[in-house]
This record gives sequence, C-alpha cells and structure tokens, in this order.
Amino acid sequence: MIELKTPAAIDAMAAAGAVVARALDAVHDAAAIGVTLRELDALARTVIADAGATPAFLHYQPSFAPTPYPAVICASVNDVIVHGIPDDTALRDGDLVSIDCGATLAGWVGDSAISFTIGTPHPDDTHLIDTATRALAAGVAAAIPGAHLGDIGAAIGAVGRAAGYGIPHDFGGHGIGRAMHEPPSVPNDGRPGRGLRLREGLVLALEPMFLAGGHDDYRTAADGWALHTLDGSRAAHVEHTVAITADGPRLLTTA
Ligand code: MF3
Ligand code: CO
Repeated sequence: MIELKTPAAIDAMAAAGAVVARALDAVHDAAAIGVTLRELDALARTVIADAGATPAFLHYQPSFAPTPYPAVICASVNDVIVHGIPDDTALRDGDLVSIDCGATLAGWVGDSAISFTIGTPHPDDTHLIDTATRALAAGVAAAIPGAHLGDIGAAIGAVGRAAGYGIPHDFGGHGIGRAMHEPPSVPNDGRPGRGLRLREGLVLALEPMFLAGGHDDYRTAADGWALHTLDGSRAAHVEHTVAITADGPRLLTTA
C-alpha cells in the first residue's frame, strides 16, 4: 500500500534527510587518495550517531540480498554501480566513487547518494557524474502532483540515453517513509503519462545510475551485494529523497 505523508511527517523526514546530507558531506570532505572505504564508513557512522539517528543500511536485508548489509554506507568505486561494501581498499588518484547513505531519525528514513572523483578526474567521469546529476534534477522536476510515475522515469532515462549511457533495468528508486523501501518502485526509464498518478504527500527516493559503456547489463559480485558493469566501464549513481507537495518537489536530503 502506498502511504501518503502529512506535512508534519514530511518535515520529520527532512530532519532525517539532513542527517544523511551531513554524513555525505563529511565523507566527501574526507575522501582523498590513500583514505580507505572502511574509514569513510566509520565517519558516516559517527555523524549519524552524533545526530541521535541510526544507520538505515546496517543489517538491512532486501529480498535480492543473501546476507544482512554489514555497513553504514555503500561505497561503489569505478566499475561498481551500487551496493559496494566498504573494505580496506584505499582510494586512488582518478577513482570515481559513489557513496550511498541512509539514516533513521524519530522513525523516519532519509536515503541519498553522491558521486565524485578523487584527485585528478578523468573528463569522461566528470561528464558521467554531471549527466547523472542532471538526470536526477530532471526526475525531481517531474515529481509534481498530477504527473505520473512514468514521467519521472522518462525524464531520468532520456538524459542518460541521450548521453549514450547504459541503465540497469532491475534497480532504481523507491517509495520511502518509515521503511527505507516502500512501494512504488521508481524505474530509471519509463513512458510519459503512464503509471501511478503522483499525489501530494508521496515521498520517493530517486536514484539514477548510469553506465559509461552504454550497455545495460551488470553482474553481481561474489559477496551478493556489489553490482559491477559487465564491460568494466565506470558507473555513476546519485540519489535524493523528494516529497511531492502542492508547492512542487521538496528535496528532503539536503543539509
Ligand atoms: N539507496 C540504496 C537503495 O535504495 C541503498 C540500499 S543499500 C542497503 O537501494 F544496504 F541498505 F540495502
Ligand atoms: Co535508495
């Protein structure tokens, strides 16, 4: 069942979202050549705990996963699309990193992701990240009362396809509220005017992920979590939690 949120609930979700935004800012600031993914995870854990919130990813087990998630963030480097488990890998010059983070505050969840490069960026990576960011903005702009779910997917997908990027089919955005994953699923591709009619109070996590090689295929790592591009090309992933309101889309995962 799709639960519409009251204005007070949306304010509460924005408070949770602000914690996530602060955690992502801290991780982004700390990420540099030689820093390990595990160190970034510990930093996010501290920011979330200091805010009186709890990590939404830790021990979470969606239906596709073989084991409970063992960390606070997903750290997906280079050819990892999403769900990279932080380990002792040290960041290197030119890496493309996606950090995904969720936090629960007073029973409400925020979920957001950023992508950035380490040291001297490869121009192709900058373009990939910029395109994913533009796609997210286009998806957010389509999240208005009276529009349809397909308008969001169509807006996101059009930006990625125009740039020649691949889009994995089985992963995308989702409803969010007291649980991190609520209905509906929000594909990163779609047809305008189709699907669920968007109403005031619907809160969605939109999360475009684009594959530089132009293929949509991916493979799951041996750990059952990380998704890699099949062709070894790089991927970018960005995410915001957004509320559909009478005044237009409201981003909830900002500081
Ligand atoms: N933003 C990701 C998603 O919505 C985060 C899930 S990671 C998990 O799917 F570990 F929590 F599953
Ligand atoms: Co999400």
